[in-house]
Parts: sequence; C-alpha cells; structure tokens
Amino acid sequence: MLGKILVTKPIFAEALDFLKSRTSIDANPEDRVLSRAELVARLQGKQGAVTQLTDILDREVLEAIPDIRILSNIAVGFNNVDIQTASRLGILVTNTPGVLTETTADFAWSLLMAAARRVVEGDAFARSGQWKAWGLQMLLGHDIYGKTLGIVGFGRIGQAMAQRAAGFNMSIQYFDSLPVPASAVPPGVKSVSLDALLSTSDYISLHVPLLPETKHLLNEKTFALMKPNCIVVNTSRGPVIDEKALARALRTGKIAAAGLDVFEREPEIEPDLLELSNAVLAPHIASASHETRSKMCMMAAENLIAGLEGKQPANLVNPEALVNRRQ
Ligand code: GLV
Repeated sequence: MLGKILVTKPIFAEALDFLKSRTSIDANPEDRVLSRAELVARLQGKQGAVTQLTDILDREVLEAIPDIRILSNIAVGFNNVDIQTASRLGILVTNTPGVLTETTADFAWSLLMAAARRVVEGDAFARSGQWKAWGLQMLLGHDIYGKTLGIVGFGRIGQAMAQRAAGFNMSIQYFDSLPVPASAVPPGVKSVSLDALLSTSDYISLHVPLLPETKHLLNEKTFALMKPNCIVVNTSRGPVIDEKALARALRTGKIAAAGLDVFEREPEIEPDLLELSNAVLAPHIASASHETRSKMCMMAAENLIAGLEGKQPANLVNPEALVNRRQ
C-alpha cells in the first residue's frame, strides 16, 4: 500500500476502487462537507487526500496536517486551497483540467440560451394553469443568432464557448489579461479591452479563475458600461460578480438577464437574486454530466497515486512545491 488517504466526500465507484487497491483509505460515506475540525482530525496520519471544492484548505488547516504530501482536488478551479502555503510546506496540489472543458461550455450555453429565451419562466408558466392562449407578445426574449458574444477569460473553456458561438453566426470577442497563443484564437475572433467588451457585447460569459484581481470583476461600475439588452453568464466562480450589484442591475433594467451557476457564498444565494425572474439560477452543476464527473474522479485518483509514488502528477498546479516536497 502506498499510504493512508482521506476521501472527503463520496466519489464515483470506479475511482474509489482504484484508490482502494493501492492505498489504505478512509472514505467519508456521507454526502456532506466535513467541518474544519473534522477535516483536520481526519487528515492526521494521512499522506494524501481527494478533496472537493467545498473543502476549505486554508493556511490554518494546511499548517495543521503535517503528514499530507498531496491534495488532489476534484475540480479545475483550486481557489479552495491556499496554494502559496501548500507550496511553502511542500504539499503538492492537483486539479482536473481538460476533461470538463466541453461539458462546462455546453452548460454555459444552456444558461445563455435559457436566460435569452426565458426557458425557466416559460416552464413555470406552462405548468401554472394560467396559459389560456397563444400570445403574440408572450414571454418575448432576445435573439442569439448574429449577436455579439464577449468572452472574459480565453482559456480552455472560453475557447470552447467560442467554438459553439460560431454555429450561431455570432461576432466573437474576448478579453484575457494574459497573452493567448495565436493558434488558440479561431479566425475572426477579436481580442479587445475589458471595457470595450463590456460596452459592446450582447452576451458576456465569464471564464476566469477566482484571484484577487478577478474578485468583483463585474460590479456596479462595470454593469453601468453594459448594453441594456446584455445577458451575463457565470460558470466560473461566484465572487467574480458582486451579486448585490448584479441584482440591482437586473432589477433596474441596466442589463436584461443573467444565467448563474456559481454564487458568492454557496450554497447561499443572494436573496435579491432569488426574487428576480430574469436570473436563471443553477446549483454549481456546469461540469455535472455522468461522463465528465466520472472522468474528473478518475483523473483525481490518478493524480493522487502519482504523487504518493513520488512521481510528478500530470495535473500539478504548484510545481514550485516539488523542490521541498514531503517524503
Ligand atoms: C468546478 O467548478 C470546477 O472548478 O471544476
């Protein structure tokens, strides 16, 4: 056996079996988030852990788990882990990129279309018994075909978003604070400043990681730049949007609608948003297809095993930890 590990919440059976055959495993069978105290207690004497984005591994927790050599997070985002502290302590951290790209872009599109064409409102109305006759002006939405899509963050998922937009004959523009290789930019897709993107897009989709620089990237000031028909989609991380400012923008008609999969204080949702019919809300499920969630679990399991074997895991997010990695 390669060591003792903790699996903080249930994962797919195939990945669990793979880990069981190679490690001595403590798997939390309950589908609930371990408290900070439980997490620290159960990580004592463990060399590795398969974690989820609901496990907060901040400095205090990391400094209290002296045996951990690798944390394998089942998510592409890793803002739940204090990477700087992990690196200083020689703890490897891995994520699950790539396998969820297409599934997440599919879902961002689902939100975009649902918000534009009022699918959720239509569903509620169709079930309500209030639908008496076909209505010429009933539940009017916004066209998608031929409009302008602004993609904020042109990494893997942003690029997958753009590929789909081509089928809708959209003008596509993106903003990224980092240079994007020319080979990743399809013909006709324009790089623009953030302000230009915000003020000229009909649809804005967020695909940035949560960093101090991206917190509240969309706020009172940036909503004021947007077109009144603008629809905002967020499948990245909740705190990228100031939710109170978004709710005000939606309520006052500064923008038309929003499709949100992520929230500032999950699973809590800003009460003002809950009251707005022009906000389509989902419980952080953009990568939740049978196929993709299963692949994410397997990838996380393989990352963990590679780390315990003393190899460099394929999806290491903090290579700087290798110099003082724990043995
Ligand atoms: C989900 O939000 C992920 O980061 O994979």
